[in-house]
Amino acid sequence: MSDDRAATVELLGERTFSLAPGRTILAGALAAGVPHYHACGGNAQCSTCRVYVERGAEQLTPPSAAERRLAEKMGFPDGVRLACQARARTPGATLVLHRIVRDEDDLNLFVRTHARGRSLGEQRELALFFLDIRGFTGFAESSLPFDVIHILNRFFALVRGALAEHGGRVIEVAGDGLYAVFGLEGGDAVAPAIRAGRQIIDDVARFSLDYTERYFGYRVTIGVGLHYGRVICGHVGIGVDGALSVIGYPVNVAARLQAATKELNNSFVVSRRAIERLDDPGALGLADVEPQIVFLRGVREPCAVYLLGAPYRDG
Ligand code: FES
Repeated sequence: MSDDRAATVELLGERTFSLAPGRTILAGALAAGVPHYHACGGNAQCSTCRVYVERGAEQLTPPSAAERRLAEKMGFPDGVRLACQARARTPGATLVLHRIVRDEDDLNLFVRTHARGRSLGEQRELALFFLDIRGFTGFAESSLPFDVIHILNRFFALVRGALAEHGGRVIEVAGDGLYAVFGLEGGDAVAPAIRAGRQIIDDVARFSLDYTERYFGYRVTIGVGLHYGRVICGHVGIGVDGALSVIGYPVNVAARLQAATKELNNSFVVSRRAIERLDDPGALGLADVEPQIVFLRGVREPCAVYLLGAPYRDG
């Protein structure tokens, strides 16, 4: 005897409705009077119908080929399904969902994101790289504005070049500091970040010797902090274009590692979490390096770190 019990769908914060066997979530929602967006008419082309499945994902039919294509193109995070494709496959199933596009503002934001082919926001494991010029404020206060900006532009051109060479992506530049990530395109994240950090430290030392010390009597030194962790990536901003943001607790840890370069008297501080991601630490000359335990301001647990740079000459 066939079991044709309807599923129960709870749209969080909205309403609960029954979903007859074989019916899509979209069809069920519309029948129940939910104004569920479906710009392409249920053809797995627009994704305005997408929902986040809070509970019961395993009780849904697997994504159709068309849904898989769209999900891949738009970088759907785990748990996001197209309501126009998904049906309950377990009789009497209970499904708990969030609608993602709920009103006109959501829709406008979504259309812009979609038009730019951007991901909707996802969790990623990335190498998080913070860099700062040490003691630049003192130089800036005693120098001509033109010289200050000119040196910063020279400095950032040099840093950008090294980051690009090793696959790093700049997320934010603030004053005389910079935040970048590695691993956005997949593949190895930490080894390229370490290579970039070393190259930047060497390049900056040369730049300082050949240029700023010679013409301005100013020695440029930098601090670099590197960590690895699971973060949230997505386009956020107050402007129309919204820049890529990468946020989360590991980002704070990476920033604190950079800040700790001064008290640890070393230009490149890398967390053990990052080093543990290396397939072959020996290839980077790190086979015999020992970590030390430090307490970072604002970080919950003690942190094991490796000092991969050089001591500052002035401590
Ligand atoms: S309605 Fe367009 S993808 Fe579902």
